[in-house]
Amino acid sequence: MIISGTSLAAEIKKGVAADVVKYKEQYGREPHLVVILVGEDPASVSYVTGKAKDSEEVGFKNTTIRRPAEITEEEILNLIGELNEDKGVDGILVQLPLPKHISEEKVIAAISKEKDVDGFHPLNVAALWQKQECILPCTPKGVIKLLDKAGVEIAGKKAVVIGRSNIVGLPVSKLLLDRNATVTMCHSRTKNLAEVTRKADILVVAIGRPKFITADMVGEGAAVIDVGVNRDPETGKLCGDVDFAACQEKASVITPVPGGCGPMTRACLMENTIECYLNQVAK
Ligand code: GUN
Repeated sequence: MIISGTSLAAEIKKGVAADVVKYKEQYGREPHLVVILVGEDPASVSYVTGKAKDSEEVGFKNTTIRRPAEITEEEILNLIGELNEDKGVDGILVQLPLPKHISEEKVIAAISKEKDVDGFHPLNVAALWQKQECILPCTPKGVIKLLDKAGVEIAGKKAVVIGRSNIVGLPVSKLLLDRNATVTMCHSRTKNLAEVTRKADILVVAIGRPKFITADMVGEGAAVIDVGVNRDPETGKLCGDVDFAACQEKASVITPVPGGCGPMTRACLMENTIECYLNQVAK
């Protein structure tokens, strides 16, 4: 079974759009998401365009602030400071990666925790790992929703997560652990990786290597979630970390790229923006 992130995301966005109508009446304004894009990296431009499109679709006020790659760290920190103070702004997202001369760490920490729709702020991350209320990072939240939608049992299962990034690998592992899976955290250079992955009931891959997961690495009946977004070196088309055509035969459920985790990340961003908005209007 192919799990369509596109259709689940559409369902979620429909719910968010209905909330926007209701809350606008109740609180007198719509949620406002601000996305900051530094430079012109084509992948980042495409991600930011997708976020603006989805914001539009659910009825948010949305602002994309574009700044040249030469912007100084101080200028970007000042911009974030202004947006933090602005009571009409509910969510702030700075598209990553940033140019090398700007510290991502400083930028992420500068965003007010209450407006951190990405769930990247150190206080949000700490809250997640301490089982406190927090904004869940969008992609990991989307991964869990995809598994739930497909009816994949998580509790008691063996989950293997390849990739240890702050954005995906680490938080996905934590969310699966919180759902009582036994989680193995590994990476692209884990020794005898195929032996580890073949035993997985749930395999989540987030390493950014085109078609890295081959059919021999997937156990019969596994649920395979592909978080990778790459260019196929042969065709130039978008592809995931998983060789979809080959692994589809082995997996019980599998996500496609495109149309899997990508749309879910954005749908969860819409949900997170509503969460931040509700905190803001309640103040
Ligand atoms: N770059 C790649 N993924 C993300 C994301 O989820 N949020 C932000 N801000 N930048 C990203």
